[in-house]
Amino acid sequence: MIFSKSLAVLATAASLSLAATPDGFEPASEVDLIVIYNSTTALNGAVVPRTATTSQPRIGTTSRLNGTSYAILMIDIDIPTNTPPATNTLLHWLQTGLTPSRTSTTITIPGASSPLSIFLLQNGSSTTPITPYFGPNPPARIPLSHRYTQILVDTSAATAQGMRALEQAARPAGGGVAIGFNASAVLSQAGLSGKVVAGNFFNVTNPGPVGAAANGTNTNVNNRNGTVNGGGDETSTGCKQGSEQSKVK
Ligand SMILES: *[C@@H]1O[C@H](CO)[C@@H](O)[C@H](O)[C@H]1NC(C)=O
Ligand SMILES: *[C@@H]1O[C@H](CO)[C@@H](O)[C@H](O)[C@H]1NC(C)=O
Ligand SMILES: *[C@@H]1O[C@H](CO)[C@@H](O)[C@H](O)[C@H]1NC(C)=O
Ligand SMILES: *[C@@H]1O[C@H](CO)[C@@H](O)[C@H](O)[C@H]1NC(C)=O
Ligand SMILES: *[C@@H]1O[C@H](CO)[C@@H](O)[C@H](O)[C@H]1NC(C)=O
Ligand SMILES: *[C@@H]1O[C@H](CO)[C@@H](O)[C@H](O)[C@H]1NC(C)=O
Ligand SMILES: *[C@@H]1O[C@H](CO)[C@@H](O)[C@H](O)[C@H]1NC(C)=O
Repeated sequence: MIFSKSLAVLATAASLSLAATPDGFEPASEVDLIVIYNSTTALNGAVVPRTATTSQPRIGTTSRLNGTSYAILMIDIDIPTNTPPATNTLLHWLQTGLTPSRTSTTITIPGASSPLSIFLLQNGSSTTPITPYFGPNPPARIPLSHRYTQILVDTSAATAQGMRALEQAARPAGGGVAIGFNASAVLSQAGLSGKVVAGNFFNVTNPGPVGAAANGTNTNVNNRNGTVNGGGDETSTGCKQGSEQSKVK
């Protein structure tokens, strides 16, 4: 018993990574994407306070990247629907035009045995984001815990047509945020299948209880300019009942 237990511990330790996409997410990546909010690292499914995630994070990789241009996507894959436990997805961030730094930056990751050298992605040409970052804000609905998934995509060889496909997917006709954002399908349409070079996710959890906000004003997910009003990450179809719903704080 003790013997097999320690073997299991060893096996777990051997497969530990700093960052990876969540189980079942496509396109998957096991390559570390380091995501840092000010001094808070948000790696490998870590539970992160919502208040730490309000401004866009710095991102980096543990190996030097050789491409000339990268895009970061952040997708909430646990958006509530009116038919729980079914969920939907929502694009939170799509920034293109990032370049990898040539030199590494040393950062200290809580719990890591030694400081880490990472290569930060930089916005050297000040590229306007396709979807400006807006932070996690899970409402008091099922599921309370949301997995915010980040993927880094090599766009060095992307065509103008491919970049337009990315923009179209991120900006639905008629405006609003991109609910039902399917990363695999979108990257395929953009000619970027197989170009995910690193991934990560973290967990932001509403303290609940479920339904605590049912009496207030509605969330406005149709605000794409960087802020989320009210309850945040839910689908518009998810809040039609209940007229004057209150804000989730
Ligand atoms: C993180 O840093 C940015 C830039 O310095 C600042 O604007 C923001 O308020 C900080 N956010 C938190 C949660 O500390
Ligand atoms: C980048 O190129 C260097 C030198 O050729 C190589 O060692 C490294 O593995 C490459 N990095 C990636 C992420 O492919
Ligand atoms: C890149 O620059 C644009 C334009 O200044 C800015 O809006 C955006 O937030 C920047 N993105 C990152 C990741 O720093
Ligand atoms: C996302 O797109 C992929 C590839 O086009 C497809 O196989 C998959 O079923 C889609 N997922 C959902 C949830 O629609
Ligand atoms: C996210 O964190 C919450 C709170 O710690 C936990 O209950 C939940 O199981 C986590 N969800 C996932 C998908 O890891
Ligand atoms: C909503 O308001 C009603 C009447 O004030 C109250 O009975 C009910 O418990 C509230 N529901 C929630 C989820 O707070
Ligand atoms: C940006 O957000 C503010 C605050 O919610 C809103 O009043 C404004 O109309 C939004 N602008 C655009 C262009 O979405």
